[in-house]
Amino acid sequence: MKRVNIFILPFLTLTGILNSVIAQDRIVVNLNQPIAEIPSTMYGAFFEDINFAADGGLYAELVKNRSFEFTLPKMGWKEPNYNRHSYNRDSGVSTIMRYSGEVTNKRYLHIEVKNSRNYSLINEGFRGMGIKKDASYDFSFLADNVKGIKRIKVELVEQEKVIATAYVDLKKGSWKKYEQSLKALATAKKAVLRLTFEGEGEINIDMLSLFPQDTWKRRKGGLREDLVQLLEQMKPGFIRFPGGCIVEGRTLERRYQWKNTIGPVSDRTLLVNRWNTEFDRRLTPDYYQSFGLGFFEYFQLSEDLGAEPIPILGCGMACQFNTAELVAMEDLAPYIQDALDLIEFANGSVNSYWGKVRSAMGHPNPFNMRYIGIGNEQWGPEYIKRFKAFEKAIKQQYPNIIIISGSGPFPDGDYFEYGWNELKKMKAELVDEHFYRSPQWFRENADRYDSYDRSGPKVFAGEYAAHSEDFNNTNNWECALSEAAFMTGLERNADIVEMSSYAPLFAHTDAWQWKTDLIWFDNLNHYGTPSYYVQKLYANHAGTTAVPLLLNGEKAVGQKGIYASSVVDKNTNELILKVVNTSTQSKKINLKILGGKVKPIFHRIDLSNNDLTAVNSIAQSKNIYPKESQQTNKKNKNTFELTPQSFSVIMFQLINK
Ligand code: AHR
Repeated sequence: MKRVNIFILPFLTLTGILNSVIAQDRIVVNLNQPIAEIPSTMYGAFFEDINFAADGGLYAELVKNRSFEFTLPKMGWKEPNYNRHSYNRDSGVSTIMRYSGEVTNKRYLHIEVKNSRNYSLINEGFRGMGIKKDASYDFSFLADNVKGIKRIKVELVEQEKVIATAYVDLKKGSWKKYEQSLKALATAKKAVLRLTFEGEGEINIDMLSLFPQDTWKRRKGGLREDLVQLLEQMKPGFIRFPGGCIVEGRTLERRYQWKNTIGPVSDRTLLVNRWNTEFDRRLTPDYYQSFGLGFFEYFQLSEDLGAEPIPILGCGMACQFNTAELVAMEDLAPYIQDALDLIEFANGSVNSYWGKVRSAMGHPNPFNMRYIGIGNEQWGPEYIKRFKAFEKAIKQQYPNIIIISGSGPFPDGDYFEYGWNELKKMKAELVDEHFYRSPQWFRENADRYDSYDRSGPKVFAGEYAAHSEDFNNTNNWECALSEAAFMTGLERNADIVEMSSYAPLFAHTDAWQWKTDLIWFDNLNHYGTPSYYVQKLYANHAGTTAVPLLLNGEKAVGQKGIYASSVVDKNTNELILKVVNTSTQSKKINLKILGGKVKPIFHRIDLSNNDLTAVNSIAQSKNIYPKESQQTNKKNKNTFELTPQSFSVIMFQLINK
């Protein structure tokens, strides 16, 4: 054991105190020289159906493959009493059938029940179904009761324990919609839906659906409330949708087509999800897009949250990391028409063709969409050619719509340089940049936008996240802290950075393909990662005007591990500092304000942890969590301390002159 000389202790303590007094850094904020207004779109959310973000996640449907349209039509379904190797099938047999004629939903299930009470059909849900005690669930389906089936027993079951039961009496005759609600007696994370058919005969069924009643805004067939609430609490300035690479598709045929995602849900054309087999290490063969969460719902969600809707559309180029298929320029017209029609769908009057479609879906008022993105991670001359054609057509008809172009998948290098140069020459309005890089890169790039050409296009930092490793990234504290440091650079450059969003947004703990992600969830629970709290703090305290800040006379971009930026909020009359201390030492900061005075009591919110590898989890959702406090400055000396490895939002009330 090490011995400490107790006579030295007082001396060491004194040295410590002296050190902390001496090591004082000075921040000077100048209210007299505002940099720029903070755009309302500065901090937004990037949504893509990756990691079960939509089906199995935000879209609250609990039945997987509800209309038998997956490539393997019975995927997700089980028939425990059906012995396919015996002619002596004593319970029943089901067959996949095809509707006649041109329909989007092509298949249904024909069931011949041979022996009453035994034939059952089980749906496994999305890695099970999350069921909450005392909550009510709406079960519905379409049935054509050909003959003899009397009723269906509907049960929610977890490991043979029945937690909800209801019965649906069937009428004779052709296709009808049946609805029945069930109340759960217990909570289960991985329940299944079991249907038992009573009577002997034949029945056709389709569109079997189970939704919780407590969806967001109690909308039938709506969104998972807890996940929307996390988004709402972030106060995103915009929602970018539907991606991401999902926009482009691995092939052109499988690109995202917004027109297939609107109208009655039973008529939306299901599509294999492009993340289904993208990564050998994380194959997800049961990942499809039902489009129950489609473009109408994205617009509606944006409106609910007071966020700008930012749709991104394909531009006739399939993902260049996959097939890189191209539509020939002479065949591009229908793609361009899709973009024009989308603007009409969002903004057109109820007398326009697409405005009428929107109105029929329950929204006669326009969604007031202001931006549209053309292409996701495209690069090279073929992109520029196609972008120009889109731009020309859109501007001709809708000169006020702001068009977002892209600079490819990387934050630097040939593709990036080429894209930016061409887009600059074309006087593009807003350029999307993507960067998934190491935490160190984020810290080192806190000054990235300081040198951007102010006469060129504005920046949309449309996808970014610090990745701790290559594939096995974790949403650890070092990543979040480094993103916070980088974001001081977004704020300082509010004159050129118009939008930013962390990506991706959601991931299911049992069904992810891509890490890191902002919010994780299972069938019942969720947690915000440390990065989520960083995003939330920036967006919740975005302020209205960026003002200059110097640390010891220089821009605060990492000297002594400190990064900082400052804004004024004209609505609350606050001066708000965002300060990141990446060092392992506490820092004492003295604040000088030019052009203003502040009250002695100030409010602060801190995120910190001594361990850079620390993470949040379902079990420990608040391991890294904002702590709020109030402090008082004595003798009008504005000083505050920063704990090691911390991100602080410090709010001072300005005194009116
Ligand atoms: O955010 C995940 C993916 O990363 C997006 O789909 C794509 O645009 C980027 O490569």
